[in-house]
Amino acid sequence: SAHVEGDLVNILFTEEQIQAKLAEMARKIEADYDGEDLLVVGVLKGAVMVMADMARALNRHVEMDWMAVSSYGSGTKSSGVVRILKDLDTDIAGKHVLIVDEIIDTGLTLSWLVTNLASRGPKSVEIATLLRKPDALSMPVEVKYVGWDIANEFVVGYGLDYDEKYRNLREIGTLAPHVYS
Ligand code: PRP
Ligand code: MG
Repeated sequence: SAHVEGDLVNILFTEEQIQAKLAEMARKIEADYDGEDLLVVGVLKGAVMVMADMARALNRHVEMDWMAVSSYGSGTKSSGVVRILKDLDTDIAGKHVLIVDEIIDTGLTLSWLVTNLASRGPKSVEIATLLRKPDALSMPVEVKYVGWDIANEFVVGYGLDYDEKYRNLREIGTLAPHVYS
């Protein structure tokens, strides 16, 4: 895209690769929840693109709802504090819930969210994420659907931001060093 010319040094996943992966994940989700109602929950803001494309890749009815959480506390993620900024609009008791996010980094956000939603009496709670970084593998969070496991490097695009920019890229990549300075 013209507005980011030169900012990306490496494209990890193209638009075509992302859409193909989401279609693959959608086929598994259709099979696993066959004959059951399903509520997909997107985690604002990063999951907006994945939710939009994943939901449209599903050849079935889904309910869609959204949560916004802050995992930064007062400073860094390492504080371990997660707060709800926007809760679900719906009662999930007795429902199959699939949380959708675009990346699991430390695993803090989704491990907390699974525990929180599980306490509301759903029929099931599972996670679908497009990307997963290595640190998340040491967290007690089970991920049912993973697009790709990636290396521990900073990625942007397709919902992922740097300083709130680059979320609207159709691809996922790494930023050139000059962007940070
Ligand atoms: C990012 C990303 C995931 C989360 C993953 O969201 O979208 O939701 O961090 O990190 P973790 O596994 O270490 O918790 P962020 O909280 O930055 O907000 P955003 O979605 O609005 O960008
Ligand atoms: Mg997020």
